[in-house]
Amino acid sequence: MNNHNPHNNNKGYFEIARESSTLSFDEFSEKYYQTETPVIIENIGENWSAINRWNEAYIREKLAQDSTAKAASLWYWMEKGTLEEDYQTPEIIEQLLASDDVFPRNELMRIWAHPQGNVSSWHYDANMVNVFNVQMTGKKEWFLVSPDTPLDCYPFTSFAIMDDNDEKIFNKKSYTHLILNQGDMLFIPPLWFHKVISLEKENLNLNWIFTKRKTDVVSSTLKRELDRYSLQSYLSNHRYQWVQNSFANINQNIPGYLRWKWRYPEMIETPVLPKSFGLMRLTLREIALLGKVALHANKIKPYIQSIRSIKKLKS
Ligand SMILES: [Fe+2]
Repeated sequence: MNNHNPHNNNKGYFEIARESSTLSFDEFSEKYYQTETPVIIENIGENWSAINRWNEAYIREKLAQDSTAKAASLWYWMEKGTLEEDYQTPEIIEQLLASDDVFPRNELMRIWAHPQGNVSSWHYDANMVNVFNVQMTGKKEWFLVSPDTPLDCYPFTSFAIMDDNDEKIFNKKSYTHLILNQGDMLFIPPLWFHKVISLEKENLNLNWIFTKRKTDVVSSTLKRELDRYSLQSYLSNHRYQWVQNSFANINQNIPGYLRWKWRYPEMIETPVLPKSFGLMRLTLREIALLGKVALHANKIKPYIQSIRSIKKLKS
């Protein structure tokens, strides 16, 4: 077990913790969930038929028969329990979902299907989700950077400015690197930056995702997120209707993974003191990075072209 706490602004590489699938809920909650520390729970899918049965054709055929499943831009959405004949929802997840500590949501499972060599560029997931990601088929290489040592993002987005040079990216960051093998589950806490590379011919991942109602873990990325959501709320309730309309229009016309909306009725509760929202301060901080954006602008187009959208489901 490593003693490196990836929070508290420690810098450098840390080895991700690995636990066996017998890890208890209480231990998981105390060591990883509450502290928002990543962990791999090994062999959780050891006895699941999905591990040998799942391939993309099988998944597509099954999901097409399920009226609650749908193809989002980059993944398939499904409700809890879908295809459960092939796997078992881990006890840790059952307990978290049964508690009052998370926001309820219908679509809380995703399936990703990636070909070999697919790269998901550096980003963090929206809505401060906790992600439980099982490698069902294939193998993936992951890099994680702590929200305490954030990467520079494109203004107002959660996508890091593309810079190909990971050596430079890791400079002064708290980060880890891992291979996720078939049957293993990776817990990605809220706001952790990640880059993922698909290693096998076919790579299928099953996710459970949900958002806590309250967090005690404060990072600079959390503060930035709270500012972004304040800006969202400011723009969508602006006293001029045209501002509201323009903002709604932009949001509707961008792909779902770039959309900018806190999806729950209330905001997550945090220890960050509510200070008056400074539109100017936030805007200046965000556009301060435009120089860096311009420097790496040539990398955006090829990356967008390389993103493989999920095919629609036929019913
Ligand atoms: Fe992600």
